[in-house]
Amino acid sequence: MSSSEKQQEARASLVAVAQEPGAPKPDPILVAVGVQRQFGGLTAVDVSRFELQRGTITALIGPNGAGKTTFFNLLTGFDKPNEGEWTFDGRSLAGMPAYKVARTGMVRTFQLTKALSKMTVMQNMLLGAPNQKGENFFRGLIPGIWSGQEKANRERAEELLRHFKLDAKADDFAGSLSGGQRKLLEMARALMVQPELVMLDEPMAGVNPALKQSLLDHIRELREAGMTVLFVEHDMDMVRDVSDWVVVMAQGEIVAEGTPREVMQQQAVIDAYLGEHHSVSLDSGSGS
Ligand SMILES: Nc1ncnc2c1ncn2[C@@H]1O[C@H](COP(=O)(O)OP(=O)(O)O)[C@@H](O)[C@H]1O
Ligand SMILES: [Mg+2]
Repeated sequence: MSSSEKQQEARASLVAVAQEPGAPKPDPILVAVGVQRQFGGLTAVDVSRFELQRGTITALIGPNGAGKTTFFNLLTGFDKPNEGEWTFDGRSLAGMPAYKVARTGMVRTFQLTKALSKMTVMQNMLLGAPNQKGENFFRGLIPGIWSGQEKANRERAEELLRHFKLDAKADDFAGSLSGGQRKLLEMARALMVQPELVMLDEPMAGVNPALKQSLLDHIRELREAGMTVLFVEHDMDMVRDVSDWVVVMAQGEIVAEGTPREVMQQQAVIDAYLGEHHSVSLDSGSGS
């Protein structure tokens, strides 16, 4: 299937979906119900229902402090909710630690990149690899098995680094990379586990315009390769450009959902951004 067909298919799957918070999807890869997280007296996340349609690029937007990063942390096991449950591909993930969540095929990147600066780019990639040595005691006892796995991991890392144009940097410390290159490294590392769902927390923040375009292309490639993408982004032009569906959070809740074109018109979205000073523009731009 060509990439434009994939795109059309992703959009078509959403045509009949109600443009309202928590709307059921025809083929959800992720379903979250009643997920709440309180910090002291503050309710950071209070999502009664969220369904993510498989095979789409879905943008998660909302003003600063809306709870987007906390919601990512909860879903991926980096934080624990006060209440709630969620399933990925029909499998319950609540209570599962982050490293196990990643292995089920659901990976995320961080708003503030977590590349380990005193390790090389290649070492960072291998940290994201499945079946690290010693993970399974018995297999670890048998020499040879791991060398095969390690070779496969290294080959995959090399291939991804070439793809993200980081291969020349493989032996450099990650700390020497530019902000944009770190974002690429995070994305490349996330792909080491051959995930089904990739969650990107502000992948374009602090990245120069040329690299932003290339990141957008990489996000599209993930969909073309059959993955589902959920990403947080503030730039509405980028959101319009690349997403099939938009979910809007404000004060911990999902307040709107819809196609990029429709959602920006909704009163709940306009209200959510009123009084916000960061650079979100809700003007109807040149959307595709
Ligand atoms: N570890 C924490 N301790 C206390 N408050 C937190 C913590 N993490 C996030 N918050 C608060 O939760 C709210 C949501 O934050 P966050 O999820 O980072 O929002 P967003 O990513 O949408 O900007 C904010 O008010 C933030 O200050
Ligand atoms: Mg955030």
